[in-house]
Amino acid sequence: MIEFKQVSYNHPDGTNALNNINLKIKKNSITAIVGNNGAGKTTLVKHINGLLKPSKGEVIIENNSTKKSSVAELSRNVGMVFQNANHQLFADTVKNEILFGLKNFGFDQDYIDKRYELMTNLFDLRKYEEISPLKLSGGEKKKVCLASVLAWNPEILILDEPTVGQDELQKNILFEFINTLHSNNKTIIVISHDIEFLWRLQPNIITMSDGRIIEINSPEKIFTDKELINKVGLIPPQIIKIFNGLGIEKDIPINLEDACKRIQGLMEE
Ligand SMILES: Nc1ncnc2c1ncn2[C@@H]1O[C@H](COP(=O)(O)OP(=O)(O)O)[C@@H](O)[C@H]1O
Ligand SMILES: [Mg+2]
Repeated sequence: MIEFKQVSYNHPDGTNALNNINLKIKKNSITAIVGNNGAGKTTLVKHINGLLKPSKGEVIIENNSTKKSSVAELSRNVGMVFQNANHQLFADTVKNEILFGLKNFGFDQDYIDKRYELMTNLFDLRKYEEISPLKLSGGEKKKVCLASVLAWNPEILILDEPTVGQDELQKNILFEFINTLHSNNKTIIVISHDIEFLWRLQPNIITMSDGRIIEINSPEKIFTDKELINKVGLIPPQIIKIFNGLGIEKDIPINLEDACKRIQGLMEE
């Protein structure tokens, strides 16, 4: 369980980025955080792996306050893939990038070899292992970032805007991947503006604005609340627009196959 208790955060220049955040995120859940640019989403997740510590209040991860743990200790359990791959990548080769966390956390060589093989196969990165990660395309860089974080198998995975710059195929892979991690009991937190991706994923959604949490609810509840989505700068997914247009506000299908069946049913009525 991740818990925020009355957390406020001011950046060193005085900018208030979080304002009295109270939040519980259950183990083995999928959560999305949405909201306008500058709402405080990235600042919030940086409190989970201890990169930032609250100015007021407390963040508790599995019964431990982040105030009492180092980033290194927290990172073992909380993996974070940053929005901008260029800010995360630093090693001279893809291989060293993926091995860094594994070596740093002191795993034994057998485990390191096993995880390295698994990650490079999963993300199809073996062919790049001796290349500088900075020479790869945007989508490939993102894969290296994912591989290097997932390599040490953290219990909590945070993805900041993971679908930006990814094509549909890569988004499908990411989608499957998040679901696989979820079925392996991991806790996943995704920051995203990608409404269609979120509709498919059906996470719990936290809406933020101006450093505050506005509402936490299901995708259907959030995306059919016109006032709310206006406030947090979102538009509803296409499928909701279509069904709202047909006068349907509830039990909106998640995928196109179900949508077609429902529309067919309506036509036959
Ligand atoms: N390093 C920083 N120094 C000062 N202000 C910052 C810094 N990083 C972010 N901010 C400010 O904090 C607020 C929240 O930013 P951020 O968490 O990055 O929002 P989001 O991820 O929702 O776009 C914004 O007003 C932003 O300008
Ligand atoms: Mg951000």
